[in-house]
Amino acid sequence: MKNKASTLPDGLQNVYDPATFRQLGHQMVDRLADHLEKMQSTAPGKVLDYKSPEEALRFWQQHLTGDHTTEATIADIFGDSIKVHHPAYIGHQVSVPAPIASIAGMLSDLLNNGTGVYEMGMASNALEKIITSLVNDAIGFPDTSGGFMTSGGTLANLTALLAARKAMLPQDIWDAGHDQPLAILVSEASHYCIDRAARIMGLGTKGIIKVPVDEQFKIRTDLLPACLEKAKSEGLTVFAIVGCACSTATGSYDALDKIADFSKANNLWFHVDGAHGGGVVFSKKYQHLARGIARADSIVIDFHKMLLTPALSTALLFKNELDSYKTFSQQAAYLWNAEQAQEWYHSGKRTFECTKLMMSVKVYAILKAYGKTIFGENYDHLYDLARSFAKMIVAHPDFKLLITPESNIINFRYEPDTQRDLNLLNEEIQKRLVAAGNFYIVSVVIAGKRYLRCSVMNPFTNENVFSDLLTEIKKTGAEII
Ligand SMILES: Cc1ncc(COP(=O)(O)O)c(C=O)c1O
Repeated sequence: MKNKASTLPDGLQNVYDPATFRQLGHQMVDRLADHLEKMQSTAPGKVLDYKSPEEALRFWQQHLTGDHTTEATIADIFGDSIKVHHPAYIGHQVSVPAPIASIAGMLSDLLNNGTGVYEMGMASNALEKIITSLVNDAIGFPDTSGGFMTSGGTLANLTALLAARKAMLPQDIWDAGHDQPLAILVSEASHYCIDRAARIMGLGTKGIIKVPVDEQFKIRTDLLPACLEKAKSEGLTVFAIVGCACSTATGSYDALDKIADFSKANNLWFHVDGAHGGGVVFSKKYQHLARGIARADSIVIDFHKMLLTPALSTALLFKNELDSYKTFSQQAAYLWNAEQAQEWYHSGKRTFECTKLMMSVKVYAILKAYGKTIFGENYDHLYDLARSFAKMIVAHPDFKLLITPESNIINFRYEPDTQRDLNLLNEEIQKRLVAAGNFYIVSVVIAGKRYLRCSVMNPFTNENVFSDLLTEIKKTGAEII
C-alpha cells in the first residue's frame, strides 16, 4: 500500500490512500442513491427516528469508543439524521438538495479551495461573479450591480447592514467609529438575525425600531413616517430600513415598492432580507410578490432554501457594487497587495470569511445541468403546493388557517370542539408528531396563539401527504383529548 517514494508515516499514508477513497466513495454514492430511491418510493419509512438529546449524546459517546467500520458509522449517522428528501419533511426552511449539487459538494470538499484570495479558488471566485450577475439580472438590477457569496443569510444580513452603515454615515465609521446613537427600521416580523445583527453592531434595543405589521403580517408602511419622526426626536440617526421578502414565520412579502418610496424620500439605505423568498425573482408566476425588489440597495438570497443547493450558500447583492468594497477596508498584505483596489476575484475582501467554502461550485453544478429556469420551476411548484394545502385546511371544519399563504409557509391550528386549551393541544400534537416520526412539521406562536407550521420545501410532497398529515393530526389530537 505504501508508495515507494513516500516518506509519510503509515498513519498519514492511510489517511490519503486513493484506493480506500475510491472504494468508500463508490459505496457512499450507492448508499445515497439507494436513499433517494427509497425516499421517492411508496414506502419511504420515517422522516426521523426521534431520540431525546440525552439519548443521542449517550449513543454517540459510546459510539466514539466502539468498534465500528466506516460503513457502519455512516449507517449510524443516517439513522440519527432527519431525511429532508422524505415527502413528509415539511418542517424548517432548508433546501432539499439537488443530488448534482451534492456531487459538486464532494468535489469542493476534496479540492478545498479557500476562495478568499483568487489563486485559492480561481474557479469558485469566477463562478461567484457569474452566479451573482445572473441573480442580479433576474432581480432587474442595473449594470452597476455586483455581489458575492457568503456563509448563510444571517452573516449576509449583518454584512449588508455594515455596508449600509458605512455608506450612509458622513464619517468613515471603519476608522472613526461613531458617537451618535444609530438605528434601523424593520418589521416586527423580521427574522431574529436582523435584531442580532443590529445588536452586534452596537445599536442596542433602542436602535432596532420594530414597525408593527398588518393582518397579513406585512410591515405597516403607513406607520413608517411616524416611526422615523419619533426616532429622530429621540436623537437617533436612522440609516437603513429592512424589507422582508418574505418573513419567516408567515412567509409574507412586505410591500417593497412602498418601502422603496419611503427610503428614497428619507435618504435611507433599503435592504431586503430575501433569504427565504428572494429567489422568487426566478419565477415568472410569482415574481410579482417581490415587486420593487430592484429598488433595494442590497439584497440577501439563500441558495440553500428554495434554490436546491445544500447549506450554506448565500448571495449578497448590491445595486452599486462599489458599496460592497467599502464595508471592510483592512490591511492584509499577506493576502492581497492593494487593499483599496476593487478586485472582485479576491472575494475575502468583501466577506467576513477569510477561508470560505467553494459554495458557488454547487450552484453552478445545478445551473449547468438544468439551466436557471429550474429555480423558478421549484418556486412555482412549492408555492402551488402550499396553496393547495391551504385550500384543504380551509375545507376542513376542525382546522383553522392563519392566512392564505403567499409563499410556501402555512400556519394553521387544530380547533376541534373541546374545552381543552388549544395552545397546549397544538403544542402537544406537534411534539407527538415529531416523536412518532411519520411527519416533520414545526410550531410557532403568533399573536399569542400556538400554530402548527409547515414549510413546503420538498418538491416530492403532495396532496396525499397533506391529507395524511391532517388525518394524523386529528388522530393525535383525539388521543390527547
Ligand atoms: C427571512 C430569513 N432571513 C434570514 C434567515 C437566516 O438565514 P440562514 O439560516 O441562512 O442564516 C432566515 C432563515 O430561515 C430567514 O427565513
